Amino acid sequence: MGDITHFEGGAIVNAANSGLLGGGGVDGAIHRAGGPAILAECRALRAGALAAGLPAGEAVSTAAGKLRAVRVIHTVGPIWEGGERGEPALLASCYRKCLGLAAAEGLDSVAFPAISTGVYGYPREAAARVAYAAIASFLRDNEHPRSVSLIFFTKGDAHAFLEAAQPR
Ligand code: APR
Repeated sequence: MGDITHFEGGAIVNAANSGLLGGGGVDGAIHRAGGPAILAECRALRAGALAAGLPAGEAVSTAAGKLRAVRVIHTVGPIWEGGERGEPALLASCYRKCLGLAAAEGLDSVAFPAISTGVYGYPREAAARVAYAAIASFLRDNEHPRSVSLIFFTKGDAHAFLEAAQPR
């Protein structure tokens, strides 16, 4: 439970949108707390390699500005459309790509928000199961990162994810 912007590890994951230029929710919180350096780098990405925006399921890292983390890894979760439009695979890809980027950048601790479960409407229990499976399979095949945290902003988020972790 807490505010992901207070995380003092390697990488904070941002639940961004394809535009990468900020928004509400955790995206807004990260840009507010991190300051303009993050947006400046996002703008540079949009002017260059990511001219068409960051596709859902993909991830890109930037500096963390005033945040205590070393880097911010921006990822775009799927918008929930009922679950039959490839949302689970896209959400799993977000977790895997962020972990892969953290490992590649030597960032040994990563904190995730509950990607897509806010504005993007992904049901939390279903999102939790996708997150656990994707994180577990990545960590089975990779040494790094050594520490992965899920940081919940609300009791409801935490409860839903903990519930989903119980064996059925
Ligand atoms: N710290 C940790 N978690 C947070 C914080 C915070 N400061 N603020 C919000 N959250 C949680 C929400 O409670 C939710 O569980 O982040 C999770 C993801 O919710 P959103 O931020 O709404 O992200 P998402 O559902 O992926 O939608 C992304 O929303 O804010 C816009 O620009 C963003 O367009 C993008 C869309």
